[in-house]
Amino acid sequence: MSDTVFVIFGISSDLSMVKLLPAIYHLVKNKGVSDFSIVGLASSDYTVDYLVDNFKKRMKNPDLKVINKIKERLVYQKGDFNDPSTYIELMNNINQSGNKNILYYLATLPEYFKSITCNLKKQGLTKEKNNWVRIVFEKPFGTDLKSAIDLNNCVTSAFSESQVYRIDHYLAKELVQNISVLRFMNSTFEPLWNNEFIDNVQIILDENLGIGRRAKFYDKSGVVKDIIQNHALQLLSLVAMERPKDLTPENIRDAKYKLLSSIKPINKSDICLSQYKGYKNEKGVSPDSTTPTYVATRLFIDNDQWAGVPFYIRAGKKQKNKQIMIYVEFKKNYLNNGVFENLNPNYLVISVQPCEGVYMVLNIKEPGRAEVSPVKMEFVHAGAFDVNTPEAYETLFECILEGDHSVFVRSDEIEQSWKLIDPIIDKVVNPEIYEEGTLPNCVKNLIESDNRKWFVRKSCNTK
Ligand code: BG6
Repeated sequence: MSDTVFVIFGISSDLSMVKLLPAIYHLVKNKGVSDFSIVGLASSDYTVDYLVDNFKKRMKNPDLKVINKIKERLVYQKGDFNDPSTYIELMNNINQSGNKNILYYLATLPEYFKSITCNLKKQGLTKEKNNWVRIVFEKPFGTDLKSAIDLNNCVTSAFSESQVYRIDHYLAKELVQNISVLRFMNSTFEPLWNNEFIDNVQIILDENLGIGRRAKFYDKSGVVKDIIQNHALQLLSLVAMERPKDLTPENIRDAKYKLLSSIKPINKSDICLSQYKGYKNEKGVSPDSTTPTYVATRLFIDNDQWAGVPFYIRAGKKQKNKQIMIYVEFKKNYLNNGVFENLNPNYLVISVQPCEGVYMVLNIKEPGRAEVSPVKMEFVHAGAFDVNTPEAYETLFECILEGDHSVFVRSDEIEQSWKLIDPIIDKVVNPEIYEEGTLPNCVKNLIESDNRKWFVRKSCNTK
């Protein structure tokens, strides 16, 4: 996995500080990556000391030997991403690193993606000789369908598909990788995974934080482009896709693409957009911004397996707790035909984060009494597998270094997601304002108008 120069465009970004450099740190510390170097690019005056201190202070008990190794091997290059001379200097830096393989990571604002790709090509920096050259695009890939197609045309004219890695870091989360395993490597669920047995599915992506330092990106993007177009639709496609021929990356991607293509267009009454109170006062946000920071939507899938089953998705910022989970509710009265009243439905929860795990709720008789109560049957990931589970970005880097595309998104999936999202983006007029730590009213109403409620997790087991 070694002998690689990591070229990070946007080295000063939060993403680089919080995810990318820590991921490289873990690869060096735990996975034996030794012969490497980093060229970090950004447009302002920074020093290597400043950058390393900045990422070090965000890590818990960092191993100073590893930090120093990174410091020795990091070169900072100030440069304008649109200026061809930047790429001449970059070529020199790459040559001086002495490393064979090149991994470009675009952690910049998306508007630079095209220019960086074209400039790398012009400078002859995309060619593989006796080495590999790979390029990684952070999300969002495009800002709508048209720009995604345009960007993809540019990317595929500069790189072959096998060199390209389009990130959706949710795909590298342990519990997300477990969705296909749970569904297709157990015989328990798949026979029930359809509209005959399932009442509704909820995909919840609540965050407690606000937009932090990312106003420049976020105010243009908003939660629909930031989370629904990618993370939420990827989770939905993994939960609802048909059984693929096998679990190889291409067959999973084919099945996800097919599922994404069968989601019905979203009606205006099936979406609710809101903004947290105080958002307009955030540094860098326009004072009359209508950018939504919270969204809920109800989706339907146009195939025999899922006809009539609502998939509720909600996502956004400034909620009480960070919680990413998938809730699958089974039909209550399938077997007893309504004979037993007040029964709780069985349900399955895939808890992606925090409290990684899976649990099922069953009806069980209480001791000595005739009463029946819902009881949890739970798999706690940290309890079974220890705490050294790799972080999503570590897994992503490992896969890229090994040339494994399984946790990356294909361009047809991205374009299909934009097809679904494009028509609803313009619909934001006056988003409802919600208080920090509360669900917007329209989000509650969206599900309650179907006589259902959002799932609430009462406790969270970590051991
Ligand atoms: C990113 C979004 O893709 O995912 C951010 O741009 C969001 O707005 C983040 O905060 C959430 O990721 P995670 O891994 O912390 O759930």
